[in-house]
Amino acid sequence: MDKKFFVTTPIYYVNGEPHVGTAYTTIAADVISRYKRLKGYDVYFLTGTDEHGQKIEETANKAGLTPKELVDKTSPKFKKMWERLNISNTDFIRTTEDRHIKAVNKILKKVNENGDIYKGNYEGLYCVSCENFVPKNQVDKDELCPDCGKKLRTVKEESYFFKMSKYQDQLLKHIEENPNFIQPEYRKNEIVSFIKQGLTDLSISRNTFKWGIPLEIDNGHVIYVWFDALTNYITAVGYENDSEKFDKYWNNSEVLHIIGKDIIRFHAIIWPTMLMSAGIKVPDKIVAHGWWTSEGEKMSKSKNNVVDPEKEIEKYGLDAFRYFMLREVNFGVDGDYSQQGIVNRINYDLANDLGNLLNRTIGMVKKYFNGIVIEGEGEDNFDKEIKALYSQTLVEVDDYMNKLQFSKALESIWKFISRMNKYIDETAPWTLAKDESKKSRLAVVMYNLVESLYKISVLISPFMPETSIKMLNQLGLNEKIDNLSIEKIENWGNIPYNIKLAEPNPIFPRIELEVKEEEIIEEEQNFISIDDFSKVKIVVAEILQADNVDGADKLLKFRVSIGKKERTVLSGIAKYYKPQELIGKKVLFVSNLKPVKLRGILSEGMLLTTVTKKSIRLIEIDKSIENGTEVK
Ligand code: ME8
Ligand code: MG
Repeated sequence: MDKKFFVTTPIYYVNGEPHVGTAYTTIAADVISRYKRLKGYDVYFLTGTDEHGQKIEETANKAGLTPKELVDKTSPKFKKMWERLNISNTDFIRTTEDRHIKAVNKILKKVNENGDIYKGNYEGLYCVSCENFVPKNQVDKDELCPDCGKKLRTVKEESYFFKMSKYQDQLLKHIEENPNFIQPEYRKNEIVSFIKQGLTDLSISRNTFKWGIPLEIDNGHVIYVWFDALTNYITAVGYENDSEKFDKYWNNSEVLHIIGKDIIRFHAIIWPTMLMSAGIKVPDKIVAHGWWTSEGEKMSKSKNNVVDPEKEIEKYGLDAFRYFMLREVNFGVDGDYSQQGIVNRINYDLANDLGNLLNRTIGMVKKYFNGIVIEGEGEDNFDKEIKALYSQTLVEVDDYMNKLQFSKALESIWKFISRMNKYIDETAPWTLAKDESKKSRLAVVMYNLVESLYKISVLISPFMPETSIKMLNQLGLNEKIDNLSIEKIENWGNIPYNIKLAEPNPIFPRIELEVKEEEIIEEEQNFISIDDFSKVKIVVAEILQADNVDGADKLLKFRVSIGKKERTVLSGIAKYYKPQELIGKKVLFVSNLKPVKLRGILSEGMLLTTVTKKSIRLIEIDKSIENGTEVK
């Protein structure tokens, strides 16, 4: 194979355990690896653990362990979790391994020989959690980390520096000449403006703790953990001792680093300048994805809302979990992990669209042809349409996958799935089956359905490898993941005639969202029925007029439009608003309250407000919603 692809995830800190965030990056790298294999690439897929530094040393101390004991205990948990998630990595690197220590020493030596290391003193702020030197001008007097919000420490120590500033122009030029180097575009722009503010030299050694790789030129220092960690990417492909491997997977390969947006500066600034100094090619692409929250909130141990992939897989199954993560948000932007979200994806996309297509098809082939895919003749317009859409789908999917737009690629596959469901309705096999003369046509329709399912199985295999195999087995095909390829599905007509389909078996049963018990108990006493609630009619109202009421300093009088009708209503909010500022606003209005007379004025409803001790505020509604729209 001559096409090479090298893809990496960040190496994860072993102070914590794998969770949905680290799982996401790793699944994304897995999906692109599997896709590239389908495209015939020789893929090297690297992940691993980042095990040195102050953060690890302190975490170990707190746990009453030596750092070595901590890392040996935690690193295997990552490895196990990735096995559980069906991650197809080629290599798993640990920065405490001998091969890595040698590689770090080698690159540092190269940088030093190039005259880019000097001794000095670092005095400034340091974030132990991010393992980052934070320039004074980026923090205010509270001295909190601008990235993670934790308290910064003042560091004052002797340190060796890397002349990073020397590479400022070279780096800017590289970014400019290689528009795909940093993605997405908006992250690139952030990096460019950061560099343009001026790069400083980088402290690359520490001497106030012990847990790191000792500096060969000065044993009192350990190498700065990011200088150490970033090097893992070349360690793994033989930088230190295997020039053939290094040539293959670094120098002559497409090199892609997938990371989260939190660590883009390390990857897009420190790493390429290190490589430039050491005379090594820089990677082709650095792609940063967005951040996951959990049920709308930032995930944190203290909130106890960190999503555990293990639990999700138990509840929903592995492939549904993988599918949800990559389908739910566009790669690059932030996403929210919610139980409702994953349940919806399973019920609509997986059970309904995909599952039904498979089940209906197998069921019909069984019913009409005893489960055998037989040969028919002819091609009508519906057939032409689905084939044309399929060709377009292949092109779109490839384009999106190359840009790591996983969600878009899936959308495109699902467009085809929906089209095939519609094809069943259009061709109405149940009608064809009633007419013996239409048997050949019925055979063609069945063939096209089975063919499309074969192709769909291959296209979804990077995302849902187990499902793909299950589907292929139900189609009577005894395929192995390693034998699938995009080339094989380029043309229509891969399914041989006379194969026998297996028994249909739902791949994704629909699920009901389980409601947490404590949530019910909490509110039990206050239940009203849905009928009680629906007695209240709430609609969107636009304020046409607002006036003070003579002799009533709390009240305002309004004329509102609720669609075809207008109403007069009084509201006790005069202390909080000036009448004229309210005109044109859209608010919520209870339209079926019994009218009452106040100060001689008939009030025909009620405006809804929030009420706190300090203030009463009208509940405003987006102006694009039409007057009179009912709230349910
Ligand atoms: O930074 N949403 O390791 P780390 C999305 N050791 N992605 C998330 C996430 C979330 N809520 N939380 C974590 C380090 N991630 C260094 C890397 S590389 C040479 C050294 C993912 O354990 C995301 O990929 O803090 C992020 O970049 C990474 O985990 C950080 O992992
Ligand atoms: Mg982190």
